[in-house]
Amino acid sequence: RKRILENTLSLTMLFPVRLTGTKYGCGTGGCGACTVMISRYNPTIKRISHHAANACLIPICSLYGAAVTTIEGIGSTKTRIHPVQERIAKCHGTQCGFCTPGMVMSIYTLLRNHPEPSLEQLTDALGGNLCRCTGYRPIIDACKTFCKRRSTSRESRGRGRSSCLMTPVTLSLSLLFKISLKLFSEEEFLPLDPTQELIFPPELMIMAEKQPQRTRIFGGDRMTWISPTTLTALLEAKFKYPQAPVVMGNTSVGPEMKLKGVFHPVIISPDGIEELNFANCSHNELTLGAGLSLTQVKYILGEVIQNLPEEKTRMYRALLKHLRTLAGSQIRNMASLGGHIVSRHLDSDLNPLLAVGNCTLNLLSKKGKRQVPLNEEFLRRCPSADLKPEEILISVKIPHSRKWEFVSGFRQAQRQQNALAVVNSGMRVFFGEGGDIIRELSISYGGVGPTTVCAKNSCRKLIGRPWNEEMLDVACRLVLDEVTLPGSAPGGRVEFKRTLIVSFLFKFYLEVLQILKRMVNGTDHVLAFPEQRALSALEDLHSGHHCSTLKYENVDSKNLPQDPIGQPIMHLSGIKHATGEAIYCDDMPTVDRELFLSFVTSSRAHAKIVSIDLSEALSLPGVVDIVTEEHLRGNRSLSSEVQAKQAAKRVKVVYQDLQPLILTIEEAIQHNSFFEPERKLEYGNVDEAFKVVDHILEGEIHIGGQEHFYMETQSMLVVPKGEDQEIDVYVSTQFPKYIQVTWVASTLKLPANKVMCHVKRVGGAFGGKTYKTGIMAAITAFAANKHGRAVRCILERGEDMLITGGRHPYLGKYKAGFMNDGRILALDMQHYSNGGASLDESLLVIEMGLLKMENAYKFPNLRCRAWACRTNFPSNTALRGFGFPQAGLITESCITEVAARCGLAPEKVRMINMYKEIDQTPYKQEINAKNLIQCWKECMDMSSYSLRKAAVEKFNSENYWKKKGLAVVPLKFPVGLGSVAAGQAAALVHIYLDGSVLVTHGGIEMGQGVHTKMIQVVSRELRMPISNIHLRGTSTETVPNTNISGGSVVADLNGLAVKDACQTLLKRLEPIISKNPQGTWKDWAQAAFDESISLSATGYFRGYESNMSWETGEGHPFEYFVYGAACSEVEIDCLTGAHKNIRTDVVMDVGCSINPALDIGQIEGAFIQGMGLYTIEELHYSPQGVLYTRGPNQYKIPAICDIPTELHISLLPPSQSSNTLYSSKGLGESGIFLGCSMFFAIHDAVNAARQERGLFGPLKLNSPLTPEKIRMACEDKFTKMIPKDKPGSYVPWNVPI
Ligand SMILES: Cc1cc2nc3c(=O)[nH]c(=O)nc-3n(C[C@H](O)[C@H](O)[C@H](O)COP(=O)(O)OP(=O)(O)OC[C@H]3O[C@@H](n4cnc5c(N)ncnc54)[C@H](O)[C@@H]3O)c2cc1C
Ligand code: FES
Ligand code: FES
Repeated sequence: RKRILENTLSLTMLFPVRLTGTKYGCGTGGCGACTVMISRYNPTIKRISHHAANACLIPICSLYGAAVTTIEGIGSTKTRIHPVQERIAKCHGTQCGFCTPGMVMSIYTLLRNHPEPSLEQLTDALGGNLCRCTGYRPIIDACKTFCKRRSTSRESRGRGRSSCLMTPVTLSLSLLFKISLKLFSEEEFLPLDPTQELIFPPELMIMAEKQPQRTRIFGGDRMTWISPTTLTALLEAKFKYPQAPVVMGNTSVGPEMKLKGVFHPVIISPDGIEELNFANCSHNELTLGAGLSLTQVKYILGEVIQNLPEEKTRMYRALLKHLRTLAGSQIRNMASLGGHIVSRHLDSDLNPLLAVGNCTLNLLSKKGKRQVPLNEEFLRRCPSADLKPEEILISVKIPHSRKWEFVSGFRQAQRQQNALAVVNSGMRVFFGEGGDIIRELSISYGGVGPTTVCAKNSCRKLIGRPWNEEMLDVACRLVLDEVTLPGSAPGGRVEFKRTLIVSFLFKFYLEVLQILKRMVNGTDHVLAFPEQRALSALEDLHSGHHCSTLKYENVDSKNLPQDPIGQPIMHLSGIKHATGEAIYCDDMPTVDRELFLSFVTSSRAHAKIVSIDLSEALSLPGVVDIVTEEHLRGNRSLSSEVQAKQAAKRVKVVYQDLQPLILTIEEAIQHNSFFEPERKLEYGNVDEAFKVVDHILEGEIHIGGQEHFYMETQSMLVVPKGEDQEIDVYVSTQFPKYIQVTWVASTLKLPANKVMCHVKRVGGAFGGKTYKTGIMAAITAFAANKHGRAVRCILERGEDMLITGGRHPYLGKYKAGFMNDGRILALDMQHYSNGGASLDESLLVIEMGLLKMENAYKFPNLRCRAWACRTNFPSNTALRGFGFPQAGLITESCITEVAARCGLAPEKVRMINMYKEIDQTPYKQEINAKNLIQCWKECMDMSSYSLRKAAVEKFNSENYWKKKGLAVVPLKFPVGLGSVAAGQAAALVHIYLDGSVLVTHGGIEMGQGVHTKMIQVVSRELRMPISNIHLRGTSTETVPNTNISGGSVVADLNGLAVKDACQTLLKRLEPIISKNPQGTWKDWAQAAFDESISLSATGYFRGYESNMSWETGEGHPFEYFVYGAACSEVEIDCLTGAHKNIRTDVVMDVGCSINPALDIGQIEGAFIQGMGLYTIEELHYSPQGVLYTRGPNQYKIPAICDIPTELHISLLPPSQSSNTLYSSKGLGESGIFLGCSMFFAIHDAVNAARQERGLFGPLKLNSPLTPEKIRMACEDKFTKMIPKDKPGSYVPWNVPI
């Protein structure tokens, strides 16, 4: 059924056989959700090999003779679960679970090859797997349990390792005060026994041994797949079909076909041809077969480096360095060297290196052999230097480096790993024996032109020059003249790219100088050498060995032994996530005659539709209908998935552009384009206060948007029941009632009792599965109703990113009046958010932003106004934190600037302005800040802030090109929905006659573990074991009129309703239980039944008392506050803009945690998401308003390489003050803001760099603080050297919105 995309023939064709464990997150190899293990038997060497691969890119025809193991193959709850599945679940490495099968398969495959891997191998194996929920720490913890020499804190302490340890003091405290340092118990884990693994199917072995090697041809309606198994047959096929691509890994051809619509009627895919799969290392060179995978190349290079003298291996070392970060391991396992070279991608990591290395390509066709140099002409596809259509690349010859020859590769990407380079480079120099006079020089760059670009002329001009500063200066100018980038170059970031071009050159210069110095040492030759501090330019920033500590207080011992409240209980679906048995919307079986719906999206930001021509789309076979504006606004097409998508592309729409086109916040302000009049919050007397302060500053900060990037894209299946107009909507949403009543029932003009909405689980939502989901569900339901057939609609990742909007970009302007000691007495702020074309939740977002803007600070005189700007983008919507991450950052930026102006440390100014004890918020709600101060102090202590600050300063004084930064940020996150009605919740609890319990409530399970917590509540209230309680999902049929699951309060509110239902039941059953106290639940249920006592009860919670008046600016909108603090340390590379997250310490006040494992999971998951928001997640739009970033290959969320090397999380001891569910606090959103500690740590590091360079003026840094912004802020001679385009003299590639 699913994604049988004719044009990719992908392995996801497996889905019709109902193997739904393998997930589909992007379809382009970028997320790893579809990871499977491919095993092959090589009859020549009699070996079986296993590798992880992305199912979404594997052509199914390429799998002849291979065994494919999906998650279902390694273990299940019905048979036996595999240790990997068990440990990832029990270490709490799953939340929504959508990424989990991919994670499991990556680890599993690694263990098949290395049963006791190193942690480095494990993190490398997971480099291509994204998780949006967990923050990766628990996944790493699970992995560590398989490592040979695991570094437990005890072991590390023995080795004298640093601060990652729980100090002896903490450990003894843990004994005294029931403090727990672990969330799982390794003792109960199943051992990993490699002898128990699935064997390679013997029939495939026999087939490989016995079957004659013959060309296989698979024919389809439009395509033919030819798999030659001998070189002769391959040459023959290529001769016959010269235009057919030679598909090896399909990682270049596949995405092209999928994303760019390229179609190949014939595909040639060589299989197991020995002549393409060999490596030969001779005296002078290494020859690598073009068919070798990049993983194999990596391995071979590692071996060669071990076996050859260092001077011969410089090219191989450089290649190996790039191979470590090139894509994720799945892509490296699939992609071939030949495919990589021949594709000649502009951002290829290997071609710039190979191009400088005098490499030769060995080509073969039926007409004979040929050799062509891998040089600029080949890379530019000059006909004279290119492959001929009938030629095959057989191998690549890479000469060994010589004694006086040096080779290096450089790259900088948005993310350290698994991200295409913004700019990369290969550089080689050869000197005459014993000297420093350049004899040969080659420099090439990727990312700066349509393909790899060689700076040939510059290199020629530098021959004969000595290797010194003067040469470097000339070289930089020559290269900048030769490798030019227009201001409007595709990909944007033009000045950054220009700066990288020369920064890399400088790195190469230093690197070579350093080795030369060593080599000429002892000779007469004297080399001018820069001071020691400059050598900091050389080292790359690597994330080191990950370690973490967690600290929370154990449950109160007076609780009953079976009471699960306060226990780190595993996510209810954890094991099912890990076995792939957890069912998501798109895993539901096909309904008879089901149709698929695909959207036609507007290609213009602001235009009128003049005409729509459907004829071509409707003429396609299988297209059932196109629902147009006449039926509903917009166009949709209906048929099978493939056909619907093809038809959607053929709908021809003629537009008439409208003016003005409003994209940016500034344009909206200029055109007075706002949704509603401003919202305002005022406290004290700002104007008067400005008159008495010592200083006044004004500033602004721009905060970019954020994509939800839930791993499960928007998904729905609408099934008309065929009777009484009943309709079932299975949908991945946070808000079933909204889908049911507001959208589907009203669109179909049906009463709500005919429309039922069901949600089993959601593969991540983060606020993005409400409003837009409703619109799409209404359209899907309309189509289903019209045809009386089930209709499914699953968005592709690119469509999802394009249609659904995300976090609001913000512009914050501030004017602060402050005293010499840092006290801010007056603050006047304006918030502008980019709301997009429709209101959605924009107003609520700015209101929440306003109510939370003061974060942890008491500003005695405050005025803050906010506007939601109406622009021509798809409307932005709710995203975890709902306005607070933007509003809070504006305030923190202002404070940081105040500190700089006062010459004080930011943490001092933060502390002096912080709420202390009992106080009042700007909207006059009472606040007790005791726990805030406690979190702050504990965070300062735990992070050894003062000591580390001194160490950072020392480091910075010793290193010119690398700088460290340290920052600590407090958090006060108000929790509540602002109205009583919004907080009401209901539950339904049934006790069956066998004593088992079924619980239903209004909350949606989207990874946060609400169902697990609800079962804990039932278990406590009914005093029964968790194993007796079940929860099937959420449905409007069982609990009507539910509120949205969001705002951190899902467990709070629904938990109180569940508790209410349980107490009702218990009250009814008390007489029966007291008559037979030793009885079982079965006995009591039967007795109750016999006495006609109902065993079913609803529970209800009417919502927290809350109110807010925008007229008076006063109210009590929140029930309680979550407090916290985070301290982060980073290191930046001033030459490239890279940064490394060295360490983060988080302290949170969570009240009395219901489940510390889930709560810590929320804190760290949110923290990492926040870190992404403030540092690497960047959306790009064209000047016409078209979104460029439509998938994981362009939009980078944090991956495993980004998490802090050290992460320490500590929960304050339980406090009983609030009147919430068992005094717990909701933690879904608050942690995201703490990610800004990373932002300010980078800010601190950049500041240190600037100060050293004599730049003392105010530092204005916008969010996200990407490598581009970091590099450009660290101004130096290189940033000054680059040409700058006059604004207005070119059309930029993108516009910041
Ligand atoms: C998610 C993802 C991340 C990536 N990240 C990076 C990255 O960080 N850095 C980077 O440099 N690259 C990256 N890439 C690109 C990747 O390196 C290339 O797609 C890959 O190397 C191509 O190899 P392939 O075997 O899959 O090529 P295929 O797609 O199989 O073929 C590509 C082209 O090469 C031709 N070809 C292949 N072999 C031969 C041959 N022997 N003779 C003649 N023609 C041949 C084919 O005709 C076709 O035109 C990434 C790709 C993906 C999908
Ligand atoms: S779905 Fe295959 S990598 Fe994302
Ligand atoms: S648990 Fe990893 S994406 Fe949700």
